Amino acid sequence: MREEGGGGRARRTLRVLGIETSCDETAAAIVERPAKGKPRILSNILWSQAEAHAPYGGVVPEIAARAHLVHLDGIVKEALKEAGCRFSDLDGVAATAGPGLIGGLIVGAVYGKALALALALPFLAIHHLEGHAMSIRFSLDEGESLAFPHFLALLSGGHSAFLSALSPGRYRLLGQTRDDALGEVFDKTARLLGLPYPGGPAIERLARQGEASFSLPRPFFGEAHGDMSFSGLKSAARRLAEKSKKPLSDRARRDLAASFQQAAAESLAERMAAALRLHERAIAEEERKKKRRARRGEKKLARRIVAAGGVAANLVIRAELEQVSLARGYIFSAPPPALCTDNGAMIALAGAERLARFGGVSLFAPPRARWTLSA
Ligand SMILES: Nc1ncnc2c1ncn2[C@@H]1O[C@H](COP(=O)(O)OP(=O)(O)OP(=O)(O)O)[C@@H](O)[C@H]1O
Ligand SMILES: [Mg+2]
Repeated sequence: MREEGGGGRARRTLRVLGIETSCDETAAAIVERPAKGKPRILSNILWSQAEAHAPYGGVVPEIAARAHLVHLDGIVKEALKEAGCRFSDLDGVAATAGPGLIGGLIVGAVYGKALALALALPFLAIHHLEGHAMSIRFSLDEGESLAFPHFLALLSGGHSAFLSALSPGRYRLLGQTRDDALGEVFDKTARLLGLPYPGGPAIERLARQGEASFSLPRPFFGEAHGDMSFSGLKSAARRLAEKSKKPLSDRARRDLAASFQQAAAESLAERMAAALRLHERAIAEEERKKKRRARRGEKKLARRIVAAGGVAANLVIRAELEQVSLARGYIFSAPPPALCTDNGAMIALAGAERLARFGGVSLFAPPRARWTLSA
C-alpha cells in the first residue's frame, strides 16, 4: 500500500474510484477532489437491476448479489473509460461497506479491496449514508464550503432521520422514523396506485396532474421530539383506495397521489422544525463544552440545512423543507435530483474526503449490513 500522511494528500488533487453495491444498483464513478474548490465527477456509471427484481415486487437479496458480481467489473471499466483514466491515474479505491444487503456489500467491498491491493492504493470503506450526506458538495457554488455543524435530513428508501452533522464523519441523531422510511412508503403507495417501482418519481409525476383533495394524517404533529412516523399515512391511503367499491378512477388516483405527497411533505416539514430546535440545543451544548473556542468566536452555527437521499429528489418535498428552513433563518440545500438516489460518485467523493483527511483504512474493514451513522 502506498503510504502518505493525511496532510500531504489534503494538499493535492485526488482521484478516487467509488463503488456502490449496497442495494439494487451496480454503480461506479471516478471523482476528482481538488485541494481547494468543487469536486468534479469525471464519470458516473449506474446499472439498475430494477427489471431483474420487478417480477418479485421487491429487491431479492440473492439476485442482487449475483447481478453485482456479474456486472461490477464491466461497470468499473466503463467508469474508467468515460473518465479517460487508467488504473494508474487513481489515488484510492472506495466502496460502500454498509449498511445494506450483505451479499451486495461483500461483492463491492471485496472487489474494491482486491483492486486496491493489486494497485497498491489505499482502500476506503464508506458508510452508504455518509455518501448520501456528502453528495451536497457537488452542488455547492464555487468557493462555497460545507461548514460544520449543519443540520442533515437524510431521506432515503431505507432511512428517514434528522441529524446534527457536527464535523466530517461525526453525526448526532436528533430523530428518526419509528416505523417505515419515507421512500419505502412512497414505493408501497405507488404499488397501491398501480405505479411502477421506484414509486417516488412515479407518484411525483402523477401528483402533478392531481389535486390534494383527500385528508390524510400528520403523525406527531406539534410534539417536541424529532421523530417521524409514516406508516399511518400509507395505511390511510390504502383505506381510502379500498373504500371505493370499483377500481379507482384516473382522477381519484391522481388526487390520491397528490394528497399523499402533500401530506408527506407537510408532515416531514413539521417534524423537521421540531428536530431543528433539538439541533440548536445540541450545538449550543457542544459549544459550551468547547468554551474556549466559543469565547474566541471561532465557530459560529452554520445555518444550513442539507437534505439527502432519494426522497430529497422530490420537488414538492424540497419546496416544503425550504420554506421551513427560510422561516427559521437557514439556507436550504439538496443535491441535484439525479444525485439524490444511489450512485457511485457520492461514494467516490466520501472516499476522497476520507483519504484527504485520514488516509486509507485497513483492508480488514468488514462489510456491515447494519451500521449506524451517529456516534
Ligand atoms: N422524486 C421522488 N420522490 C419521492 N421519493 C423518491 C423520488 N425519487 C426517488 N425516491 C425514493 O427514494 C428511494 C431510493 O432512494 P435511495 O437510493 O437513497 O434509497 P436506498 O439506497 O434504497 O436506501 P438507503 O439509502 O436508506 O439504503 C426509493 O424509495 C424511491 O421511491
Ligand atoms: Mg441509498
